[in-house]
This record gives sequence, C-alpha cells and structure tokens, in this order.
Amino acid sequence: MCGIVGYIGKQDTTKYLLDGLKELEYRGYDSAGIALLNTDKIDVFKALGKLENLKNKVDNASLSSSYEIGIGHTRWATHGKPTELNAHPHLGEYSYVVHNGIIENYKELKEELIEQGHSFVSQTDTEVIVHLFENYQNKLNNPIEAFKETISRLDGAFSILLISKADPSKIFFFKHGSPLIVAQGNEEGEVLFASSDAPLIGLANDVVYLEDGVGGIASTEGIEFLSDDYSWSTLPTSKQFAQKDGYRFFMEKEIYEQSDVVSDCMLGRIQDNGIDFDEIDESLIEGIKEIKICACGTSYHAGLTSSYLFERLSKVKCNVEIASEFRYKEPLLSDDTLFIVISQSGETADTLEALKMAKNAGLKSLVVCNVDNSSMTRTADHTILTRAGIEKGVASTKAFSTQTVVLWMLALYFAKAKETISSEKLQEELHALREVPKSLIVEDKLHEKTRRLAKRYLHGHGFFFIGRDVFFPLALEGALKLKEISYLHAEGYPAGEMKHGPIALADPELFTIALMPQNLLYDKIKSNVEELSARDSTICAISPLDFELADDFIKTLKTDHYMLEFFEMLIALQLLSMEISIRLGNDVDMPRNLAKSVTVE
Ligand code: F6R
Repeated sequence: MCGIVGYIGKQDTTKYLLDGLKELEYRGYDSAGIALLNTDKIDVFKALGKLENLKNKVDNASLSSSYEIGIGHTRWATHGKPTELNAHPHLGEYSYVVHNGIIENYKELKEELIEQGHSFVSQTDTEVIVHLFENYQNKLNNPIEAFKETISRLDGAFSILLISKADPSKIFFFKHGSPLIVAQGNEEGEVLFASSDAPLIGLANDVVYLEDGVGGIASTEGIEFLSDDYSWSTLPTSKQFAQKDGYRFFMEKEIYEQSDVVSDCMLGRIQDNGIDFDEIDESLIEGIKEIKICACGTSYHAGLTSSYLFERLSKVKCNVEIASEFRYKEPLLSDDTLFIVISQSGETADTLEALKMAKNAGLKSLVVCNVDNSSMTRTADHTILTRAGIEKGVASTKAFSTQTVVLWMLALYFAKAKETISSEKLQEELHALREVPKSLIVEDKLHEKTRRLAKRYLHGHGFFFIGRDVFFPLALEGALKLKEISYLHAEGYPAGEMKHGPIALADPELFTIALMPQNLLYDKIKSNVEELSARDSTICAISPLDFELADDFIKTLKTDHYMLEFFEMLIALQLLSMEISIRLGNDVDMPRNLAKSVTVE
C-alpha cells in the first residue's frame, strides 16, 4: 500500500526521499510527493504516475536551498481519485502531512473544521489531519500539544509524519495501524523514517519498529518518544528480503497481510446499524430486480460466493457468469439489472468488454476493484475499492478476501435498504464481519501443519476440492490456487455432484480436500465425504469438528458464523497450495504460463 519516508539531517534530504520512495515502489502507487522544509520555507512537489515524473519536477526546479527536513509519500488511492491534488503531502496553512491508513471519522472532522473556517482542496481523508493540527496550534501555540490533541481525535488507521513552520526543526510522528519505522541514521544528528525496512538499509543500523499508539518528535538533537513503549532493534541487511518483509515469497507475505488489508477494507464502512460506502448511495438499487456479476478466475469465485449472500440476505436474484462466456452468448439484458464486475487489476480484457456491453445496453454498473483509475473504474458508473494494496504474487490471495468482504458488505447494504433483514440478523452479520480479520490471522500451528501435509500430497493422480454452498466457490478457489502454482491436477466440485460422475475417479491416489464447516450443511457434506472415503479416496478434512474417516485433518477454530469458517479455510487452502509448490521447487510468485494481468482476450 502507500509508502512513507522522512529525513532529518545534513546530507542530501531530497536524495534520501526520492531514493527511499524508489525502494518502496514494490508496494504499488499511483502518485507521489515530497515536502522539503527550510526554516520558513516549504517546497512541495507532487506528480501522478511513476516516480520519474516527480524526480523530473524536482530536477527542473533547480533548488538552491539546502533542506534539513523532508517528508515523502507514494499513494495508492483509497479516498478520492489518483490526482495531484489528492497526492500527499497535504497542506494546511503552514504545515504538511503524509499519512498511511484510513481516517474513519474524517467526514465528521471535516464538517467541524469547515465550520471553523478551514477550507479543503482534496477529496482525501488525510487532509483533515493537517487542518486539525493547525486548528489546535492556532489555539494552543504549542506544536507538541497540538499534535497530541490531533492524534487523540483520529479514529481508524493512521501512521503519520507531520512538519510545520510552527516548529521547523522537527518531524512529528505517530503510528497506529499501518507500519512506521524510525531510525538513527549513520551520520551525526540524522533521523530517518520509512514505512518498511528497504529505504533504511545501508543508511542506519538501529531502528525502532513503532508499535501501535506510539509517536514522538524528532530533530537533529535526537528522538523523543511520547511513551515508553518502544525498543531498539538492528536492521536486516538484505533489501530483497526487506521488500518481502522477511517472507520467502510475495504470495506468502500477501497471505499473511490479509488480516490487515481486510481491516483496511472495512474501515469506515461498518457502522453501528449497517454498512456505509462513500462511493454509492441507495439510488443505486432503485428499480433493481436482479444482479448479474461478471468476472474471471479468482474474481469469478468471489462473485460466485457473493451470489449466495445476495440471494440469502438481500433476496435479490443474482447470477454470475465467466466474462469470456458472457461476451459471446448474446446475453439478454434488461435495465432492471445491476451489472457488477469484479477485478483485482481493473484491466482484464474479457471483464472490461462485458462491462462495456452492459453499459451499452443501458444497465447500471458497478466495479469492485483494487486499482483506482484502471480501465474498469473509468468505465463503470460506480466503483467500490477493495483497498488490498498492490498484489505482486501472480496467484491472487488478498484480492480474493477483500473482494469477498466488499461483496458481503454490499449484500448487507442492499438487505438493509430493501428491508429484507431483521435488525437482529443484521447485528449478527455485522458482528461476524468485524471478526473476519481475526479469522484471517495465520497461526504458526496451521502453517506448520500445511508444511507437513505438503510432503504427502506431491504425488497421486489428482485432487478434488469439495464443498457446499459458499464452500463450493471456495473449493473452486482452492483447486485453482493449487493448479496455478503446483501444476498438479485439481478440480473443485459441489460436494453433492460427486455421485453424478466424478466419484468414478476415487481411489487412494485421489486426494480429496473436504471443506466441512460446522455452521452450514455439515451433515450433508459429511455424507458426501463418507461416500468418497468408502471408495478409498485419501481424505484431508478441513473442519472444526473431528471426523474419524479423515486420513488427514486440518482443524479450524469453532466460530458461530459460516463466513468466518470460510475465511479460516481460505487461509488453510492458500498455505497448502503454497507449501506444495515450494516442495516441488516451483517459482511461487511467477508460475509458468501465467501473467498477473490478462489484457488480451
Ligand atoms: C488467480 C488469478 C486469476 C485472476 C483473473 C482475473 O490466482 O489471479 O485467475 O483472478 O485473471 O484477474 P482480475 O481480478 O485482475 O480481473
């Protein structure tokens, strides 16, 4: 996601900021900016697109002053389009801020500040921070107190660097949610900031990985923390390792990230009595009798999962099609249908064409997407961003979990608007949604178990992944993950379909991965698995309930909602396919024959 850098010292501030942002490029961004402070003067540069554009602007400015303080940022749009105005650093009257995360209560704060005479130029949540700071500074004339007051008013996730002419020798910093590191530089009086290790390597040895709720003030005199809750560590030395945050593969990093990115995805959207999306209002569903979803691959699986939720919760007819099939079937479209496309990249050719067809037929359209300003977000009437940050591994992981969460929230949004859900049931669903990040935490025990299982599942003539209801699309996703990166043959099936043909393949060399949730159709899936076991298939059950016929068992935690089981099982499936791929010696992040974005038909 977004990247932050900051510098205090006598070396080349601009160089540290630009080189540091370059090191953070792997996190993905759509715009970038830096602010340079020199006693009573702040110079700011912002540019859309590649860092090269920012660097050109800085070079063309032929800066004469030397700056001892600077902050920089690469932005991945979440609130407001990728434009220069929305790029960080954000300005008040005399201060600048860079921020990673999402300010959940920014709308209330913005209203309050506008009433007090502040004017805003961007569509971002971030801009409230700098105005809030100046509002307090104008009253208190004490930048440290003003900064503390500011922090105390913010809800959500916020890692911040703030500079101000009110005290031009300092950087004010705070971490809550998104990562932030402060380092003592190798040169005297030097303090460096970055949102991950990579920009710091070679320039510092001693760093503090800030904990949530910890902040402070830095100057050439040193770093003053606002609490005692910090400790110094030594920086790793490998940049490649640092870019993957210490994980072996980007896919592994992205599996582990899911709990955090799903929290980001939900921030500000789950309210006490329903769901709120900045991007849409209830007019979207006026006159809508049906939903049609189109997508490809993993995004199609998220769509298929949501069709159960749309029909169950919002009582809207929902059908889902693979975009490449939809395009040529001469589909019958009517304007009481809401057309939803789902895409991580926003560029997949078949999905984009399906969207254009629906628009030409006069349908209302919505894209659930991870990349703002992509072809699909520019084409669709409405966009809901998944806020997963860049996904580097070719095998999609966090895109799927965030898409599924967005679609689940959308089903609840519709359910409430159409009054198809009781307030009691709505509260249960909201409660379950809030628990999703916990279900996505990767437990060491689970990872170790999949590592051990991977040894035994390298041979055989194939895999069946079976499930019912939403666990059927999850079975499809589990099978797709495995075949993509292990090159082993795997199929996902609705468990009830086995006896209509596929069970003929059952023998000890056929591995069945059975998704057996406690909270949804347990007895039904159990008897389907028993049938396979009776035909000697090797069974790996994933379930919170013991199942004596299982040859292998991945135990998930007991929860009270089937969607929480869904996300726990998702993690197990992703880890299992990754561990099998590693054992086979494959390139996990760049599997053969595959591309991250499929922009051809
Ligand atoms: C699987 C995978 C692909 C994509 C598909 C659609 O791991 O990544 O199946 O899901 O190519 O891509 P997007 O979502 O970018 O439209």
